[in-house]
Amino acid sequence: MTLPGLEAPRVAAVVAAFTERYGAPPAYVVRAPGRVNLIGEHTDYNDGFVLPVAIDREMIVAASPKADREDLEVRVWSAEYEVEDRFTLGAPLARSPEHPWVDYMRGMLHIWQACAFKLRAFDAVIAGDVPQGAGLSSSAAYEVAIGTFLNEMMATGVAPRQLAVLAQKAENRFIGVQCGIMDQFISAMGRPDAALLIDCRSLDSRPVPLRLAEQGLAIVITHSGVRRGLVDSAYNERRQQCEEAVRLLAARLGRPLKALRDVEPGELKAHEKALPPLVARRARHVVTENERVLLAVEALGQGKLARVGKLMNDSHASLRDDFEVSCPELDALVRLTQAFEGVVGARMTGAGFGGCTVALMPRDRVEAFRAEVLPTYAAETGQQATAWVCAAVGGAAVLDSPLKRALG
Ligand code: GLA
Repeated sequence: MTLPGLEAPRVAAVVAAFTERYGAPPAYVVRAPGRVNLIGEHTDYNDGFVLPVAIDREMIVAASPKADREDLEVRVWSAEYEVEDRFTLGAPLARSPEHPWVDYMRGMLHIWQACAFKLRAFDAVIAGDVPQGAGLSSSAAYEVAIGTFLNEMMATGVAPRQLAVLAQKAENRFIGVQCGIMDQFISAMGRPDAALLIDCRSLDSRPVPLRLAEQGLAIVITHSGVRRGLVDSAYNERRQQCEEAVRLLAARLGRPLKALRDVEPGELKAHEKALPPLVARRARHVVTENERVLLAVEALGQGKLARVGKLMNDSHASLRDDFEVSCPELDALVRLTQAFEGVVGARMTGAGFGGCTVALMPRDRVEAFRAEVLPTYAAETGQQATAWVCAAVGGAAVLDSPLKRALG
């Protein structure tokens, strides 16, 4: 799906907020989407495969460079929090003690300066509708939106794929979350009506057409009502356990291994009994999940959506039992969703420990799903869930800029 541009109400609202606050319309307007991952969870930092979709929930930045080139003060207004953050360029940037939301902006500027790219001070308004702490990559969308704006304003010529890597570095080095590349990559590189198969080692990618409408199906995201918790420490712990598996398996296989990506399923089977049980389970998730991604891509190509659904279900079981990143609420929601008539497949999506599920189901069953499954889920867990159909959209884009206006 191609999103409406400047005329979209939410974009117009950000432009109006900028104009009101900073006294003139913004010179630049950019957007960057959040994402939902269809399959391939916790594989990206193991050099593996992922299959995410850029969604029609996005971060929007409206901004103008400072008229006075001597003025080094950046001012950023968050429409959501109704707070302005101010800081000065040139000096090393630190994380904000008061406004954690602005750290994604500061992180991108930090990386930009570290690359010795030129930078001008600016005023900006940022707003968006990617729910935070929901596993839909609001932070990656924020970083990629800022990067897209800086790239356009400074005519830096950074390619979208490189922009994704810079955004990941901002997250790793400035925010301190050791995330993989999936979220930033899909936000920068998403394609309308397609998922993206990303090889997280080579950073090669290819669109995988979804053709869901032809079969009357829709991608449904359901927020469990549980805000993602614990994620940083548990995430970094999972990474270490995967690295431990690589070390132990390399010794057993007698060849150097760079990542779990380099382990064949048969090899793991032959050696998993010799590994500490917890490490073996973590490795089994990653190795089998990589295989499931490639099988899902093949099945999508053949229009075998029932097969894709089965692989999604298996992915959830593996995340729940072997990787242990689900939680009781997500498990209940996935169980109820999978049991609902017509559902093709369902799983948790994102890092886990709360947040959202993703399901494939007939579009004409979505209302009934909301009416029947969500109340049962609420009765079982005490949590209010919300479900919506999402569209697969293109990656980050400049909606307005002096260049665009000059080109007409
Ligand atoms: C988070 C990280 C990603 C990825 C997923 C799990 O979203 O940012 O890099 O590891 O978790 O698949």
